Amino acid sequence: AYEKLWLALSIVLILALIGTVTYGAVGPGVAMVADTQQTVDSGALDEDERFSEPRVEQVGENEYEAYVVAYQFAFEPSPIVVPANSTVTLHVTSRDVIHGFEVAGTNANTMVVPGEVSEITVETDEPAEYGIVCNEYCGAGHHVMEGKLHVV
Ligand code: CUA
Repeated sequence: AYEKLWLALSIVLILALIGTVTYGAVGPGVAMVADTQQTVDSGALDEDERFSEPRVEQVGENEYEAYVVAYQFAFEPSPIVVPANSTVTLHVTSRDVIHGFEVAGTNANTMVVPGEVSEITVETDEPAEYGIVCNEYCGAGHHVMEGKLHVV
């Protein structure tokens, strides 16, 4: 009787393992790799032209850096356009109050604090369009604050 129990238990464990692996592999087209928060002097940020002209820059064969500014009540640039099958580091800061930056349907999610730069590195695979939502209450227009991420 014990043998049957062990057999049943092993099957359950194997199925659980397969389930975990499958779930991991079938994730969305954007996977978050890292989420770090850097503190940068806000005065220096004002002079940083990458944030005064938010944009995406190519820094390697399949590597991109995006400079994104959140403000009441939008994200810039929008859409953020990045190629499929690439590594994209998003540098996000705020011009006014604390905002959130969440790529809807993925685990790319960070708080955006004025005077600081939040970094998220994502791996893109297939072309897709994502919404970017603010998930920190930031004022009267919070619920309409959104952006777009286009993987092309
Ligand atoms: Cu920005 Cu809520």
